[in-house]
Formats: sequence, C-alpha cells, structure tokens
Amino acid sequence: PAQNGQNLRSPICCIMGHVDTGKTKLLDCIRGTNVQEGEAGGITQQIGATYFPAENIRERTMELKADAKLNVPGLLVIDTPGHESFTNLRSRGSGLCDIAILVVDIMHGLEPQTIESLNLLKMRNTDFIVALNKVSNLVDRLNGWKTCRNAPIRKAMNQQTKNVQDQFNGKLKQIRGQFMEQGLNTELYYKNKSMGETFSIVPTSAISGEGIPDLLLLLVQWAQRTMVKRLTYSNQVQCTVLEVKVVEGHGTTIDVVLVNGVLREGDQVVVCGLQGPIVTTIRALLTPHPMKELRVKGTYLHHKEIKAAQGIKITAQGLEHTIAGTSLHVVGPHDDLENIKEAAMED
Ligand code: GTP
Ligand code: MG
Ligand code: NA
Repeated sequence: PAQNGQNLRSPICCIMGHVDTGKTKLLDCIRGTNVQEGEAGGITQQIGATYFPAENIRERTMELKADAKLNVPGLLVIDTPGHESFTNLRSRGSGLCDIAILVVDIMHGLEPQTIESLNLLKMRNTDFIVALNKVSNLVDRLNGWKTCRNAPIRKAMNQQTKNVQDQFNGKLKQIRGQFMEQGLNTELYYKNKSMGETFSIVPTSAISGEGIPDLLLLLVQWAQRTMVKRLTYSNQVQCTVLEVKVVEGHGTTIDVVLVNGVLREGDQVVVCGLQGPIVTTIRALLTPHPMKELRVKGTYLHHKEIKAAQGIKITAQGLEHTIAGTSLHVVGPHDDLENIKEAAMED
C-alpha cells in the first residue's frame, strides 16, 4: 500500500458527539450496514472499530472529481457512545485517534456531550471535522428536504428550495455562534481558507448520504497532508485494549486497536490484569471483514500477522481479568519479561 515512497499507516479517526446525533448511523451509511438498529434502545454502549480500505473511500468520493490521491492504505474509524454515562469510553476513544469527527445535530446545536467531547479533543490537541448531521430534517412550511442520495453536499444543497436553504443558513449561523462561545472558529469546509485554525463543517445526512463523500475526502486528505510524521509507520508496537468480551467458541477475547507495529499469531504478550500482569500467547488474530464493525458478532477473518492500524479481536488463554483501556505489550526475543510485566501494570 505504500505510495510515493511514503510508508504511511491508516489514520485512526474517532467519531464523537452527544447521544443520538447520528454517529453510528453515519458509519452505517458509509458501511452499508444496519448496526444502529440492532443496538439496545438505539444507544451505543461500547467502543467500535471499522476499517475502510482506500479503495472504498476512493469509490465513495469519486463524484467530487477531486482525482483524489490517497497515500494511506485506509481509514480506521472508532465509534464511541454519546450517552452521558460513558465519559470513560469517549476518553479512551479520543486518546487513540489521530483525527476526529465531531457530530452535531443540526436541529439541536451544541449539547452537553458535544462540549465534553470538544474539551477532550482540545485537551489532546486533536484536529477534528464537524459533521453537521440530519440536514434531511430541515423543512420549511411547504417543502421538505429533497433527497439526493449520497451526493456531495453542494450539489444536494443546490437542489433545495430557497426556504430550506435559508433554514440551513440560519441553523449554521446559530451553531457557528455556539462554537464561537467555546472559543472556536468554524466555517463550511468549502469556504474554509485557513484549515488548522478554523474548524471545518461538513453538512451530512446519515439517512440519505448527502455530504458523506465530502466528509470522507476531507478527513483522508487532511490527515495525509498534515500528519505525515505521525502517520509514518513504526515497528514499535502500540496497542490498546478496547473491550474484554466472551465470544462463543473463543472464550474470553480482547478487542484491541493496533496503532503501530505488527502482531503475529504465537506472539507472547503481556496485558494489565486486575490481579497483576497477564502473560499469554496470541492464539488467533481475528478481524471482521473490511467495512464491518468489530463490536458486532459476525464472521471473522483469521490472520497470521496484522500490520497497523487495525481493530483486532485477539483470542488467548487467561484474558478474563484484562483491564480495558490499558496497553498490550509484545515480548520480543531480546526483551526482559519482568520489565515488560512492570510496564504493563503502570497503565
Ligand atoms: P449514541 O451512540 O447512542 O450516542 O447515538 P448516535 O450518535 O450513534 O446516533 P444514532 O446513530 O444512534 O442515531 C440516533 C437516531 O437519529 C436514530 O433514530 C437515527 O435513525 C437518527 N438519525 C441519525 N442520523 C440521521 C440523519 O442524518 N437524519 C435523520 N433524519 N435521522 C437521523
Ligand atoms: Mg452510536
Ligand atoms: Na443512539
């Protein structure tokens, strides 16, 4: 996948925002899946991960005619819950990512967990793009939003009545004002002349897909243009445990995000456990198919080895008491196991 002599890994993008702003639905729209409707109460309660190969991103952004040169192998997207009780999961997700999407419901504007997410991103200096979602809920007295399935947002906006456009502009102005109150300049992405100082807004609909091409292209192009150093692949394993789960036929497994390095079947690894360090051997490295959600039960692909960045399910013995949110360490041939056990417990 290395192009232009660069050896870049896939950027990791975290999707954050207030409950029910449409984070999971946006991912469903890109994946062509229906994860959101399978969630208890329609509420996300775990961190998810989905890998989007560059090929799919290229296809999805074709209509923008950007002649997009994608230097990254793909994009790994981390879904997080927006419900107020999951601050720890939002923090875990935002701690892992290179870039983020902050989803705002155009009818609601900034809400408490939008602001909490914003503060997590500010704290780590993480760049983000605002998805101003649910544009399809814009209506005037006579007309509703005219669906332009999966269209670039400017094309879709041009199809709307003057009244719908006026309503959009009104909401946009209001929400830019709310961001200003949080100390942030924002602007529609195609009017943004100073990305990096001014945060870009992409209007989207997760139901009919308007604005999705824009969102994907902006994300990948921004990441590969401004984060080359950060995204340059490194052999040093950097891996975080997202969730600890019992899976039928596999026992207790851990879902991890491999940020850098390679994991191999048979690797000796150390994770942080409730009762001390857990030393074990990777039995199987599993991933869902590309464009499928790691946290949803499905068929898994088996790998002898996997290179970062990826969301992976690891099966091994003795994982029962692993603490989610901590790092996984690989024991190399020249490593001192005792040192690594200590390092694992420092998390
Ligand atoms: P949590 O993960 O629980 O925080 O919610 P979420 O942000 O993932 O939102 P979710 O995808 O669960 O969507 C919440 C509700 O909004 C669902 O009923 C969706 O169908 C609806 N929804 C999401 N996006 C859109 C959109 O673009 N337009 C409209 N009309 N409805 C949407
Ligand atoms: Mg969700
Ligand atoms: Na929801």
